[in-house]
Amino acid sequence: MNLILKKTLDDVLSKNCVIQVFGLGYVGFPLLVKLCTNGFHVLGIDNDSKKIERIQNGELLESESHLKEIVLKSIHSGDLVVDTQSAKSEKPRIGIICVPTPIPTKSIQSDIFVKDAVKAFLEMAKKGDVIILESSIEVGTTSKMKSMIESMGYKEGEDIGLCFCPERIDPKNEKWNLENIPRVIYCSDDLSFKIAKEIYQYINNSNLLRVKSAEIAEVVKSFENAFRLVNISLVNELAILCDKLGINVRDVLDAAATKPFGFLPFYPGAGAGGHCIPKDPRFLLESAKKLGLEFKTLENALSINIQMPKYVVDSIESLLIEKKLKKSVIICGLSYKPDIEDMRDSPGFKIYNELTERGFQVALYDPFFKNELSQKYVIENNIKDPDFKILPNLSDDSISSYDCLCIVQHHSKLKDRLKEIYKNSKIPIIYDCQGNLRFDPSSNSTLKILGG
Ligand SMILES: NC(=O)c1ccc[n+]([C@@H]2O[C@H](COP(=O)([O-])OP(=O)(O)OC[C@H]3O[C@@H](n4cnc5c(N)ncnc54)[C@H](O)[C@@H]3O)[C@@H](O)[C@H]2O)c1
Repeated sequence: MNLILKKTLDDVLSKNCVIQVFGLGYVGFPLLVKLCTNGFHVLGIDNDSKKIERIQNGELLESESHLKEIVLKSIHSGDLVVDTQSAKSEKPRIGIICVPTPIPTKSIQSDIFVKDAVKAFLEMAKKGDVIILESSIEVGTTSKMKSMIESMGYKEGEDIGLCFCPERIDPKNEKWNLENIPRVIYCSDDLSFKIAKEIYQYINNSNLLRVKSAEIAEVVKSFENAFRLVNISLVNELAILCDKLGINVRDVLDAAATKPFGFLPFYPGAGAGGHCIPKDPRFLLESAKKLGLEFKTLENALSINIQMPKYVVDSIESLLIEKKLKKSVIICGLSYKPDIEDMRDSPGFKIYNELTERGFQVALYDPFFKNELSQKYVIENNIKDPDFKILPNLSDDSISSYDCLCIVQHHSKLKDRLKEIYKNSKIPIIYDCQGNLRFDPSSNSTLKILGG
């Protein structure tokens, strides 16, 4: 029996430990609050000092606003502490790593932030501490963290436990959330698994499937998102075919979905965005490349995904030329999916880049857009012309000088207004990337649906 990690397990059972969550973003912050409200001593660490200040003042993101009351109360009572630095503790420390993992390039490795966070944790570590990686990581990253642990003179699985439990959260999914999504986990040893189970009891009722190796868990995470990307790209290519055939892709999908086995419906759009689906499959490509292999399905899926905004712009341009209208477009929906504020790697901004390159007059609208985050959006989306025009709303006045409304994301809060714009013919052309609007013969606006 390993007495060091056994002592940690006993301490975790009595909550006599400190949980340090590194990275207080979409993944780390709700986790931190959940553990805090379940009676753990927690410390949230983020190297963005503005974010720390924002949290301390209770200024939360829209997606976090339901936590505001409890966050303010816990900060006030001292139960919730957030800082830019980790801290030592005499109690066992459990470090949960939720930092970003960027697409690897020549100058940046995907584990750059994970390494920084693990290093910061290890610099204050002692025997009995445990690290749980939650970030989506490339194959081999957990093994690199094991080397980091050993380079500090500790034995992984004896002095320090190491787990990888990839986050699977799907923002705004009505059915599946932090509390009920089952998780896959790799643990260096049985006691670390018991420790993790005890902690995840308060997260997802310990619904954890332990896999045999870190590499299995790493491939599982990337493969899940590769599966989604491939299917999204497949249906987007089908939408392009249906456009040419003059049939509606949704009629095809609804009919195909009656097959009770071997078919899963995915729906077309201007391309998958965000910090997960277009990124994680690249980790598998990297693994394949390192082994001298190709992963052609993924390469094709990524290239179709990149092409989608261009396809949307080609279609809009042809329509405007055909109808002899001005090259003026409003892009509605800048987040990467409906009803969220996250604008990372957004198809709406890709459409913006393409339209401005082609000399269109473009305006942008998203009810989740925050002026104070403009610079962040520019960096995250590689925006070529940062002097974008943002409309304050979709009122008749705001849209009157444009000839096309391109709906990239159907936010629920815009449902009625978008219907009204179409029904009352407020703009000559509506291009609906998600196909939520229904054809209305009484409208004088032209409605074009991607794949319809
Ligand atoms: N957002 C999602 O829906 C989602 C879902 C599943 C998995 N993931 C994965 O989870 C990880 C985190 O994603 P996210 O969306 O929460 O990212 P995020 O950008 O919202 O938050 C990450 C935070 O980490 C901070 N940070 C960076 N380096 C740090 C360091 N060394 N120490 C402390 N803080 C540091 C950043 O300042 C940022 O606030 C990524 O690997 C992502 O792929 C995200």
